[in-house]
Amino acid sequence: MNTIALDEVSSHDHRWAEAVSRDVFVACVLPNLAQEPFARRFASRFNGLGRTLTEPELLAASGSAAGLVVTATDPLRAPTIAALPSSVRVISTYSVGHDHIDLQAARARGIAVLSTPDVLSDSCADAAILLMLGAGRRVGEGLDLVRGGGWTGWTPCQLLGTDLYGSRLGIVGMGRIGRAVAQRARGFDMAVHYHNRTALPDGQAGDARFHATLAGMLPHCDFLCVACPSSPETRGMIGAEAIGLLPDGAIVTNISRGDVIDDRALVAALRSGKVAAAGLDVFANEPDIDPAYRTLPNVFALPHTGSATMRTRVAMARLLADGMEAVFDGRQAANRLV
Ligand code: DGY
Repeated sequence: MNTIALDEVSSHDHRWAEAVSRDVFVACVLPNLAQEPFARRFASRFNGLGRTLTEPELLAASGSAAGLVVTATDPLRAPTIAALPSSVRVISTYSVGHDHIDLQAARARGIAVLSTPDVLSDSCADAAILLMLGAGRRVGEGLDLVRGGGWTGWTPCQLLGTDLYGSRLGIVGMGRIGRAVAQRARGFDMAVHYHNRTALPDGQAGDARFHATLAGMLPHCDFLCVACPSSPETRGMIGAEAIGLLPDGAIVTNISRGDVIDDRALVAALRSGKVAAAGLDVFANEPDIDPAYRTLPNVFALPHTGSATMRTRVAMARLLADGMEAVFDGRQAANRLV
């Protein structure tokens, strides 16, 4: 097994760290400012390799940690959770998505799991608008023309796209991120529709129109925004049948998890023009994505940067550090999943 060099980051207040003797291993690579809440509040060790750890590395480095900080690229399935040291009391995932963690297995071992809801909703919703504009207004093709030197000057026929204003937006999953997208979409004069397991209580959805079924909403979507978590119920949900129900020339965007979309069906629809363009921030099997997404001109693709702002990164770290402290103290943590 590889032995890995881990940078010991000592607490700023050693007396405090000793008093609580809370050993935290931050397995994912974080910006310096986002390391701070862990370094300041716990006896923290950090991944010094600058890359995602393999499972054996993660297990070996967990040592006698009471808390682990991982992220979406650290799958913690049942066998991994079973192999964690007995010292581990809390797993914090530096993500709002938690489909990479077997919550049942954690619960069975009495390990608390925390995530980062709320603090990234606004950044992700901004990114959703970016995806809609990028795909609708053909930003990728425009950039290629300018950067590649192929632009020969303005013509009325060039890169005609789809307006957000006056269009209908359908949001799949009206959780915190979905609601933040809806709020922004209203500012773009879009008519908002949503499909969720249940209708939101009065006041939470504003004038957005609820659809009890996905099939019922899809014909109303000039733009579709996937904002629901990945789960056994949602995986592959946007497949050929669903896409067939969209108006011709609709724009499909995804801000949640790639596997909610059936890549084969979307690629076929992008080729045929049934879907005019896609704005994708997330993909199945990242970073080994369906190769068609790299070459289709009507794909506006970003490398999973929905929450990637420093303010959000720091807020995510603070939320997890607060939650871990609560778990260590035996208090309730609002961001606790199990
Ligand atoms: C999240 O927070 O879930 C982001 O997608 C990063 O995994």
